[in-house]
Amino acid sequence: MNTRRKFLQQTLLGSLAVGNADFLFNQADWSEKTDKNAFPAVISTWAPNIKANVAAWQVLAAGGYALDAVEAGVRVPEADPNDTSVGYGGFPDRDGHVTLDACIMDEKGMAGCVTFLQQIMHAVSVARRVMEKTPHVILSGEGALQFALSQGFVKENLLTEKAKKALEEWRVESKYKPIINIERHDTIGMLALDTQRRLCGACSTSGAAFKMHGRVGDSPVIGAGLFVDNEVGAAVCTGLGELVLRTLGSFLVVEEMRRGAHPQKAVETAVKRIVKKYPVQSEEAQVAFVALDRKGRHGAYSIHPGFNYALYQQGENRVIEAGSLFEK
Ligand code: GLY
Repeated sequence: MNTRRKFLQQTLLGSLAVGNADFLFNQADWSEKTDKNAFPAVISTWAPNIKANVAAWQVLAAGGYALDAVEAGVRVPEADPNDTSVGYGGFPDRDGHVTLDACIMDEKGMAGCVTFLQQIMHAVSVARRVMEKTPHVILSGEGALQFALSQGFVKENLLTEKAKKALEEWRVESKYKPIINIERHDTIGMLALDTQRRLCGACSTSGAAFKMHGRVGDSPVIGAGLFVDNEVGAAVCTGLGELVLRTLGSFLVVEEMRRGAHPQKAVETAVKRIVKKYPVQSEEAQVAFVALDRKGRHGAYSIHPGFNYALYQQGENRVIEAGSLFEK
């Protein structure tokens, strides 16, 4: 294993051309603030989701419910045709189908999930309906679609010309090999803590580009892609779902926090667990976690450098470069 473990503190990067052109901060520079008991707060995976944070913050700043905040936030990339990893515009499977996975979890421990959902843009909202309107936790495929239609969602073509072209290019070699950080905005995972200290989370993705038809990743699986326990904290992740599914990473992060770990230490433990168990796959795949505890402290960490996240707290919306286990 040619891994050189080093807890990176990356250099301060320049201004970021996203949203309000805020600055990209080094996680170490921000750590002083991460320890503050500041809420409301919202954290999401990947820099472009600074825009999703804005939608979530509108709810939180008005004293609203964290569940409404994460749903509103996640709907932003779901509707963005330029985000090729989530919702409309998501890269399809190798047969040309855009198939979506999403989940949502509230402060009471209730959860709703959809897997292998097609032709419905806002998978996160369908997941919320599963949680609120059915006795089940997960609906999948055709059943999830029929349920969505019965709830008033409308069918749409989610395959954009850009995504179709990408599939045609991929088919030239047909080599399935997810590339670390290449899209830099993979799955959206979002966690929010509202003014009443209710902690909720959501996650949405079109999954690995050019996956096998029928493949479901970690994102809609409670405990893998997302876990929330209002007594402790919440965690959500992004990256290659197979590595997370085998380790129940988000559950592990929350359990580490339950044992008293700071969210930063908890996410580091989950990343190290993956790398220890799957050293070969970890060389070539990215996984990253973000966590938020009920005090409003946060953590973020990835296997490889290049992962960043957006944090809206104390009235400031920032993109922060996370530390990673491996160096470049
Ligand atoms: N984390 C997204 C996926 O693997 O589907």
